Amino acid sequence: MKKGIVLLFTLTVFLFGIFSITGLVFADKQPPDSIVIKNEGAKLPPVNFSHKSHVEKNKLECVKCHHKDTNPKEPERCVKCHLISEVKDNAPIAKDAYHKQCQTCHKDSSAKGVKAPTACNECHKK
Ligand code: HEC
Ligand code: HEC
Ligand code: HEC
Ligand code: HEC
Repeated sequence: MKKGIVLLFTLTVFLFGIFSITGLVFADKQPPDSIVIKNEGAKLPPVNFSHKSHVEKNKLECVKCHHKDTNPKEPERCVKCHLISEVKDNAPIAKDAYHKQCQTCHKDSSAKGVKAPTACNECHKK
């Protein structure tokens, strides 16, 4: 009887441990730090994007950019909905979607004194 209780207790502690560890792992899942955005058929140099600087330094929420995803922490690529050369379901073509999202914020930010890239070759860097 006593042995049974000890066993049950040990098992509970063990399972609790497993759940909290996996819980932590998932809660702490960070987006990839640096990515290169390059779409099919692009002629200009690809664009580097840092999640670290945007999410941490600028305190942006995932949904701010991953705006239509059911789970913004595990987003689809923009081009899944924003096609390269055709407007679909009112979603602007990829180039316009990226430009609008990136540039609107960069212009606002620069106007407020925090310089963010707005010239072509600041984003499309060789
Ligand atoms: C300032 C805009 C912005 C913010 C904020 C942002 N992301 Fe992203 N993220 C992007 C862009 C742009 C891409 C590239 C999408 C593409 O390739 O079409 C991307 C890609 C990703 C990818 C796929 C990366 C790969 O290499 O396949 C993951 C995962 C991701 N983001 C997670 C997150 C999470 C989690 C957060 C919040 C903590 C977040 N993002 C916040 C813009 C952002
Ligand atoms: C699951 C589909 C989906 C994904 C993924 C997606 N979008 Fe969109 N997006 C849409 C649709 C649909 C619209 C147009 C209708 C609307 O705004 O509600 C849109 C509109 C936009 C607009 C125009 C908003 C406005 O106010 O004019 C921008 C900019 C944009 N998306 C950028 C992006 C970027 C950048 C990414 C990737 C980080 C992305 N979207 C990912 C579906 C998506
Ligand atoms: C909601 C605001 C916001 C959005 C959306 C945003 N940015 Fe930024 N970005 C900033 C600010 C603010 C800075 C400058 C301050 C800093 O260095 O963190 C910046 C800086 C940058 C830089 C300079 C180097 C660096 O990482 O600090 C690059 C490159 C850049 N952004 C690319 C992009 C691209 C590409 C997109 C669209 C996919 C994007 N940004 C969308 C706010 C934004
Ligand atoms: C804030 C960052 C940013 C700035 C500034 C910017 N772009 Fe882009 N642009 C992007 C991103 C992100 C993409 C999508 C990635 C891709 O297609 O390579 C893109 C895609 C494109 C594309 C379609 C793909 C290609 O290479 O043919 C063209 C054309 C383009 N941009 C031209 C320009 C021009 C011209 C300027 C200056 C007037 C400019 N961009 C400024 C971020 C930027």
